[in-house]
Amino acid sequence: MLLISGEIIKEVYTMKEAVEATKKAFQLFSEGSTDVPLRTHLAIQKHNGRVLFMPAYVKDPLDAVGIKIVSVYFDNPSKGLPAIPSVVTLMDATTGMPKAILNGTVLTQIRTGAASGAATDLLARKDAQIGAIFGAGGQAPSQIEAMITVRPLKEVRIFDPIRERATNLIEKIKANTPFNKVKLTATNTPEETVNGADIITTVTTARGPVFNAKDIKKGAHINAVGSYTPDMQELDPLIFGKCGKLFLDSREAVLEESGDLIKPLKEGLLLEDQISGELGELVAGKKVGRESEDEITIFKTVGLAVQDVVVAEDIYKKVTHAGVGLSVDL
Ligand SMILES: NC(=O)c1ccc[n+]([C@@H]2O[C@H](COP(=O)([O-])OP(=O)(O)OC[C@H]3O[C@@H](n4cnc5c(N)ncnc54)[C@H](O)[C@@H]3O)[C@@H](O)[C@H]2O)c1
Repeated sequence: MLLISGEIIKEVYTMKEAVEATKKAFQLFSEGSTDVPLRTHLAIQKHNGRVLFMPAYVKDPLDAVGIKIVSVYFDNPSKGLPAIPSVVTLMDATTGMPKAILNGTVLTQIRTGAASGAATDLLARKDAQIGAIFGAGGQAPSQIEAMITVRPLKEVRIFDPIRERATNLIEKIKANTPFNKVKLTATNTPEETVNGADIITTVTTARGPVFNAKDIKKGAHINAVGSYTPDMQELDPLIFGKCGKLFLDSREAVLEESGDLIKPLKEGLLLEDQISGELGELVAGKKVGRESEDEITIFKTVGLAVQDVVVAEDIYKKVTHAGVGLSVDL
C-alpha cells in the first residue's frame, strides 16, 4: 500500500490535470456511473468540531472506490493546525484491499479549486481579465490557481474581513508560479472587490451574503464554494433574479445541504426550475452553458466524494508511474 504525502501530490500533479479529472468526475456522477451516498456528519461538540465521512464508488470506466474523512475544526488555526485536516483512502475495487492513503488536506484544496476551475472553464467569458476571491483561508490559493489556470487573468482581488489574512496570503504566494504571473490585490470592501470582476469565487465560512447582487457586472461568472450547511450562505439571493444559468455539482446534495439555495428557495427568491442542471450534464453536452456575453452564470458546489476518488485515483496512477510515494505493508 502507498502512503502519498501532500508534497508528493504537489510534485506530480498539476491544476490543469485536476480540472480535467474533475470534469470527468462530474460527468460520471451525473450519468449515474457512480455510487455516492450523502456524506455522514458526526458533530464533535465537546471539541467544537465535526467529522465528515465521504465514500464513493466510481464504476466503469474507472472502477475506483474510496473514502475521504474530513474534519472541520474551527479552533485549529489558533493551534497552528489546518481547519480542515483530512485523509483519503483508496481501496482496490476488485479485491477490497487498501491500496493508498493520501494527504486529504492537499487533495481537497486541489480538487475544490479544480471544481471551480472546471465550472469557470465551461461558463466564464473567454475574455475574462479580473478575478475576485472572497475568503483568504486554506482553500484560497488553489481557488486562485484554478482561476488563472483556465483564464489568463491580469488581476485577482482578494477580500477577507480580517484584511491581514488577505495581505499575508499575497505575501506568501506572490513570488511562486503561477501566482507571479498575475497582479494580486487585497481589497477593502466587497463593492471594490467585485466592481468590474469577470470571475468571482466565494470560499468563506460566512453565514450571510458576502457581496451585493447589484454590484455584479453583466457577464460575470460566480463560483460559490463555502456554504455546505443550511445556515451557511455566501450568495445574495437577489443574484438569482439576475443570473441566466445556475449549475450545481449535485442537485440532491446542494438542495439538502447549502443555505445558498435552501434559504432563497424558502423565501421564494429562487424557484427550482431556475436551476439549469448539474455541471456534469454541461460537460456531457446535455445542457446549454453561457448563451450571451451579458449572461451572469453561477456554479454552486458543496463537494462530492466522487471528486476525491477520481482525483485520488489519477494521483495514485501518476505516483505509481513515477515510482514515488512510500510503500508500506499493513
Ligand atoms: N465546496 C467544497 O467542496 C468545499 C471544499 C472545502 C472547503 N469548503 C468550505 O469552504 C469554506 C472555506 O474553507 P477554508 O478552508 O478556506 O476556511 P478557512 O477557515 O481557512 O478560511 C475562511 C476565510 O473566510 C473568511 N471570511 C469569513 N466571512 C467572510 C466574508 N463575509 N467575506 C470574505 N471572507 C470571509 C474568514 O475570515 C477566513 O479567512 C469553508 O466553509 C469550507 O467548509 C468547501
